[in-house]
Amino acid sequence: MKNILDKLYRTNCLNKEEIIFILDNIDKEWENYLFNLAKNTLFETYGNKIFIRGLLEFSNYCRNNCIYCGIRKDNSNIDRYRLDKKEILASLEESSELGYSTFVLQSGEDLYYTDEYLEDLIREIKFKYPDKAVTLSIGERSFESYEKLFEAGADRFLLRHETADPIIYNSIHPKMYWNERKNCLYNLKNIGYQTGAGFIVGLPNQTNKVLAEDLLFLKELEPAMVGIGPLIPHPDTPLKKEKIGSAEKTIVLIALIRLLLPDALIPVTTALNTIYEYGFERGILAGANVIMLNISPSHVRKKYEIYKNKETKDIQELNILKKKAKNIGFVINMERGDNLNFRRNENV
Ligand code: 5AD
Repeated sequence: MKNILDKLYRTNCLNKEEIIFILDNIDKEWENYLFNLAKNTLFETYGNKIFIRGLLEFSNYCRNNCIYCGIRKDNSNIDRYRLDKKEILASLEESSELGYSTFVLQSGEDLYYTDEYLEDLIREIKFKYPDKAVTLSIGERSFESYEKLFEAGADRFLLRHETADPIIYNSIHPKMYWNERKNCLYNLKNIGYQTGAGFIVGLPNQTNKVLAEDLLFLKELEPAMVGIGPLIPHPDTPLKKEKIGSAEKTIVLIALIRLLLPDALIPVTTALNTIYEYGFERGILAGANVIMLNISPSHVRKKYEIYKNKETKDIQELNILKKKAKNIGFVINMERGDNLNFRRNENV
């Protein structure tokens, strides 16, 4: 184990067998060793800063039927909502005053928001807040659409790959295809977005071999951001009887991702925070360095229920987070927090 982990720290590379060996055999003692290597690597790239993002969930309509997700099209036990431009801009105004520098606009795949609608919205946001970063998280669209939204000023795009196993991917995403997912991610990267990928931990049939494929896919794609979180079965979905994903394993995977991709921005995701009280501290100490706080208007917040009891941390939490961060030697940072390889205006 020591040889493999030391090699990972030195070279930022692992092969499939080595990843499977780590996941099959790691115990508490070696976990701590791994977390320290990951923390050292993080200190060499982003230092002890934890970046804050403001997450605005602007629509929970979705055309897809992902079998784990609470906002899937076939779930009729859900109150659907859409925010209009005015409501979105009002939320951003408030968040801007609170000091956020990144706005993440997230929704289900909702074609009500056409390219023209979104281009207009993004241009207005960038006109009002030229120094802030706009991140989109709105699912699969055509190359042309991604290109238009980038031209309009969007800086970053989150599109988790969910799982890199083509058979599992196609079976949990009805009428969606792994090859298309992969294409979208490469399109986003080629257009110039800081692109985020990532996967769910604890999907059915997800062996350590599958997780190794997830990590190798990330290494090959080299995304600017990687978000992973445990599966939290939603009672109104086909996966309602599935076991909850392991927090411990998620944290080990965060550390491996930090070591494989030293420059990645890695959030402690809401899902990890929801199932694990110390998710924030454990995630950061394993190499994560981003936290997303909810900036959606309070009347819709409960409705964006991709899983039950979703923890909605917002600005109220900031002082608590500041203390928690300080206790473990970190500081909260409200700047844009771009990926190290993307300096502002370089990608225009
Ligand atoms: N449990 C955990 N993560 C989920 N997501 C969606 N539904 C669930 C769930 N039940 C994740 C997906 C998606 C991200 C926004 O939330 O990975 O990309």
